[in-house]
Amino acid sequence: MLFITGIIMACNPKDVVTSDNPEIINPTETEGTIKPPNNLNKLLIPELIDTRSRVTPVQIDIQEGNHEFVKGIKSQTKGFNGNYLGPTILMRKGDDVKINFTNLIGESTTVHGHGLHVPGNVDGGPQLQIRAGQTWDVTLPIRQEASTNWYHPHLMGKTAEHVHAGLAGLYLIEDDNSENLNLPKTYGYDDIPIVVQDRTFVNGVMKNYPVGQKDDLREPTLVINGTIDPYVQVPKGNVRLRLLNGSNARSYKFFIKGNVPFEKIATEGGFLEAPVTLTSIVMAPGERNEIIVDMSTNKDVELMAYYLPKNLSKANPNKDELHRVLYLQRNKHLEVKNKSIPGSLNMIQRYNPSDVQNTRRFKISNGKINDVSMDMNVINERVTKGILEKWIVNSGRHPFHMHGVSFLILSENGGVPKPENRGWKDTFMPNGKGEILLRFDYEAPDEFPYMYHCHILEHEDHGMMGQFTVK
Ligand code: C2O
Ligand code: CU
Ligand code: CU
Repeated sequence: MLFITGIIMACNPKDVVTSDNPEIINPTETEGTIKPPNNLNKLLIPELIDTRSRVTPVQIDIQEGNHEFVKGIKSQTKGFNGNYLGPTILMRKGDDVKINFTNLIGESTTVHGHGLHVPGNVDGGPQLQIRAGQTWDVTLPIRQEASTNWYHPHLMGKTAEHVHAGLAGLYLIEDDNSENLNLPKTYGYDDIPIVVQDRTFVNGVMKNYPVGQKDDLREPTLVINGTIDPYVQVPKGNVRLRLLNGSNARSYKFFIKGNVPFEKIATEGGFLEAPVTLTSIVMAPGERNEIIVDMSTNKDVELMAYYLPKNLSKANPNKDELHRVLYLQRNKHLEVKNKSIPGSLNMIQRYNPSDVQNTRRFKISNGKINDVSMDMNVINERVTKGILEKWIVNSGRHPFHMHGVSFLILSENGGVPKPENRGWKDTFMPNGKGEILLRFDYEAPDEFPYMYHCHILEHEDHGMMGQFTVK
């Protein structure tokens, strides 16, 4: 069993993020057990594959599965090396990570590394089909800083369906900086992946993707790492949550019950320069954020989410639906590994807007980008490698994402970006107009161009996407 077998799997020292204390304690087996909260399910933690000291390629089977979202009731799903979702693959800056993806689902798919700065020929976009029965042996040259990224299929017209079935997983990148920073970093213990998705259940069975769905698929039940109504037991210190909005279409506003403040430490592409104290965080599909939650207080923590309305400009989230994402239960028997985090996290070399050599405009509306629909035979934009560009994105309510790069936000609806948005990003939803600065350092040829698109998967599949080369 390779998949989410919970914290126990991570006991293998080779799979643990930190080398100082590889032992991960399974709370329910510790003497002086803390009773879990009633009627909640133990959060599944995807298996960790640490590629840092590895010589052989990682083997990932893309396969059909039967996942039990509800105990004893099987749902038809897909997963990487398991029933639903996939292992968290930990990589180190400077490494060339070899992965063999074998397609066992009986139809073509692709595996895109969302957030990775890798050349177009290994980006896993719609051109890089892995046909049924075939294996894609890929080497990912990891040259970017520590960050939380993810992988998911990107087949034209099928992305939404494949991701919905369960095909998604995390790529974590570590570097000198992240390994030296005094942060919670024991995977599944005080450094916890949180993949947020929404699904529909009928008598405990997940409803399959409604093939042909053109409009945003927004479903009623939250699923976290494949778990409904989850709890996790954590030490009474700092706990790091790596949040991924892996939903097809829904945006959320996350907060802690009681509006307890937390620290945001990272955006999609890396650490912020310094932690930013917040009481809520809005996340569109595709976005990641890392936050630090203080569990040393005298109360358990409930991470909550408002489901944001489809049309954000009419948003009054307080009137919208409210759901619990995760119950974090303090377990005094678990050793506290982190009590305070550094005041300085990263050096961000900011671009100088006066160095911009080219400006492009993207207008996302009526199911199209710049009034055209995705056509696999058309290269929409041609970018010169190594020069600074400004992209002016009129995205409306659509989360805009592009491959191969991280960008910095120059302005959001005319104003300077908020401190918590001043980190490297690859997906954003200005809810209006945003200006970003970006520079592409890797090539994407005509045969394997990069994509820019709306990350509402139903929109992406129905043409809200374009292709660009970098040369
Ligand atoms: Cu998350 Cu082009 O994708
Ligand atoms: Cu991507
Ligand atoms: Cu869209």
